[in-house]
Amino acid sequence: MTLKILSVVGARPNFMKVAAICEAINELNALAAAKVVDHVLVHTGQHYDSNMSDSFFNDLELPRPDLCLDVGSASHSVQTARIMERFESVVLNERPHAVLVVGDVNSTVACALVAKKTWCRGDHETRDFVPKLAHVEAGLRSSDRTMPEEINRIVTDSISDYLFTTEESANRNLLREGIPEERIFFVGNVMIDTLMRYRSKAQESTILQDLQLTDAGSVKPYALLTLHRPANVDDKRVFTRMLDAFLDISRRMPVIFPAHPRTLKRIQEDGLGDYFVDHFVQGPEPWDSQVRIRVVPPLGYLDFLNLMSEAKVVLTDSGGIQEETTILGVPCMTLRENTERPATIAQGTNVLVGSNPEIIIREFNQVCANGRGAQRSPRYWDGKAAKRIIQILVNDFSQDLAISVPAYESNAKELIQN
Ligand code: UD1
Repeated sequence: MTLKILSVVGARPNFMKVAAICEAINELNALAAAKVVDHVLVHTGQHYDSNMSDSFFNDLELPRPDLCLDVGSASHSVQTARIMERFESVVLNERPHAVLVVGDVNSTVACALVAKKTWCRGDHETRDFVPKLAHVEAGLRSSDRTMPEEINRIVTDSISDYLFTTEESANRNLLREGIPEERIFFVGNVMIDTLMRYRSKAQESTILQDLQLTDAGSVKPYALLTLHRPANVDDKRVFTRMLDAFLDISRRMPVIFPAHPRTLKRIQEDGLGDYFVDHFVQGPEPWDSQVRIRVVPPLGYLDFLNLMSEAKVVLTDSGGIQEETTILGVPCMTLRENTERPATIAQGTNVLVGSNPEIIIREFNQVCANGRGAQRSPRYWDGKAAKRIIQILVNDFSQDLAISVPAYESNAKELIQN
């Protein structure tokens, strides 16, 4: 019998994580005499614009989803409820042994809840069963419960059977919350698996030339900005104060801003268009890009990876970018008061700057003076996290399903530290 794993993607930061899982499953099946894992990929449709979703399937060579739920945007409650309603029939029809969710978006928590509340019919030899739930990137905590992602993380972790963690702080958080030690697996970071796999391919991207960031073959200094969290962009006063700081920086070097659709909406509704020049529509006129922020549409994975790798500094409120810049050795200024990823500060290039313009400018000056840091890798951010996850899952099911498991990732079951 094969192990049936159903993986969920929904929003942009999920795609690079599940890409590593797909790759690990393909490798395992190729190694084995008979197919070991039957993989079903479900896309909830939380993100649906082609540059927020389709372009990632192309760049990351992801298989087309087996099922699309097309839920689209709505309030948190409505979006979560829609996903749950549609995902329940998927679980009933597919009857997976395990449901695998990644990260902390609404699709993660919605599908986690459904997985643990749905009884699937057994066949003539097996009883009815509830699928096992695997959470990839478990245990991260910002301790800020006003963040929707923090609620999603806590709820998902509290009901998961397998909690796959990326850093030591996550192990400690889970133990503190009473999660039994035997459910916690310190495997590393699947997003970094994907970064390592595509790093050299990303260098073929022409984005630096497209944005006129090269000069006689060498890269000009520039800052890369991403910003979409409600806490930063929904309050016009907070947003405007930050924009003033970015304008200040843009007088020193171009600030490239691939803007998330929700941020663009705020810019339009709040009448903040004068802060920006649209690179591909209006410019950049040399004088203009020195006094305005250069906005571009959301970029695909390879273009963004290339742009991030060559940046002088990255300013962001994203979670994943804090981790990617750590591996790339690019200074990262995080536009938040807290982070659920402390390894990026202790062992990486990240510094928290919040939304205060004076602190943003002060840190920017510091980064310019210090230059690029050394590349450092938190433990197990080594390109093998997805393999460890798949090895752990197949090992666990091997007896029940009489699967013969090839030796694949030998140090899969790490003891948690501390
Ligand atoms: C979601 C995640 C966030 C993640 C971010 C990455 C949750 C709670 N939040 O936030 O953790 O960092 O994705 O992008 O799940 N929109 C479009 N096109 C799209 C998708 C969204 O125009 O393809 C617009 C819609 O106006 C929508 C808004 O963006 O209402 C917000 O989208 P939503 O998926 O609710 O949350 P994000 O802010 O993208």
